[in-house]
Amino acid sequence: NKVVLAYSGGVDTSVCIPYLIKEWGVQEVIALAADLGQGDELGPIQQKALKCGAVESLVADAKEEFAKEYAFAAIKANALYENRYPLSTALARPLIAKLLVEAAEKYGADAVAHGCTAKGNDQVRFDLGILALNPNLKVLGPAREWGMTREETIAYGERYGVESPVKKSSPFSIDRNLLGRSIEAGPLEDPMTEPPEEVFLMTKAIADTPNEPEYIEIGFEKGIPVSINGNYLDPVTLITQLNETVGKHGIGRLDMIENRVVGIKSREVYEAPALLVLIDAHRDLESLTLTGDVTHYKRGIEETYSHLIYQGLWYSPLKEALDAFIDKTQERVTGTVRVKLFKGKATIVGRKSDYSIYTPSLATYGADDKFDHKAAEGFIYIWGLPTRVWAQKAKG
Ligand code: ARG
Ligand code: SIN
Repeated sequence: NKVVLAYSGGVDTSVCIPYLIKEWGVQEVIALAADLGQGDELGPIQQKALKCGAVESLVADAKEEFAKEYAFAAIKANALYENRYPLSTALARPLIAKLLVEAAEKYGADAVAHGCTAKGNDQVRFDLGILALNPNLKVLGPAREWGMTREETIAYGERYGVESPVKKSSPFSIDRNLLGRSIEAGPLEDPMTEPPEEVFLMTKAIADTPNEPEYIEIGFEKGIPVSINGNYLDPVTLITQLNETVGKHGIGRLDMIENRVVGIKSREVYEAPALLVLIDAHRDLESLTLTGDVTHYKRGIEETYSHLIYQGLWYSPLKEALDAFIDKTQERVTGTVRVKLFKGKATIVGRKSDYSIYTPSLATYGADDKFDHKAAEGFIYIWGLPTRVWAQKAKG
């Protein structure tokens, strides 16, 4: 039998190759490394998989698809798990699942495998993503079952020609892609311990940020970011540039205790500079262009949407139905948002749109006021009727 393995070049996924062959009797392992903008060189990773015993080593550049189909969908939904985490890792999983399934179908594999642990969210996202796309494929998670410690895993690998990590391996578990970095474990397991400065790579410490604010203008079309300071950019370039610009000002860090799908509370540190600012700016443009009732109703949809991304239900009928709703709401979310970047904070200081329904003649307290003041009293009489009846009853 043949297995397609999600391969990152790290210790766990490297050890998965000999483990699947020696312990589980798999005949052929095909490694698949996806480029989602994590910044690793994929050439050496491709070679490494072969050295570890893979018969075939595939590399897929999926950055553009990741930005367009996954990140942008989340921006339209203002998706923040537990109101904070912009799902930068979670969004990558369904795309990797899709690439695995496509490769399995192409190479006639009967199973796919990943290196996730049994305690995490990522296993849920991979397993559910894969089964949603092809319920006939078996999903193998060797690291879920092998019960080896970090040292044992490295020692096991050495027996079968998996090089142990060159650098003394970091105590942190880090996942990174175009959208951000997720940092956990090691000293961070104590929720009272401040993350050391060296865990951050995309965002500067406040002490090292510019002493002058920087203003940027983000252009959106139908809810999707298309330009920065008037320059139209492709999705990957836009996010890459914005990460740089925003991170330089120390913006985009999060430190939270979050609720995992498997019920565990876990301490998570994130940096996702561009994504956090894009969601903020997008939500602001919606406040200018959507009616109040759509804005309020959409909040509930956004929470449901964030949950389903976090919980591995990207490929689901609910997600498709919510996408239809969200896309409908985005038809006029076109315009420009002005953001001030300074000392760890992105502040929205201006917004404009051809579809703006903000009406100065209604809002103004000045002379050209067009609001019918006499209508207010009658409105409040009727609006307050139930309250008046209720209050009267209470008075007796
Ligand atoms: N807790 C985050 C999430 O569920 C980050 C997971 C990080 N994954 C990893 N393999 N290190 O999306
Ligand atoms: C893992 O356990 O594989 C990483 C953490 C997570 O998936 O949440």
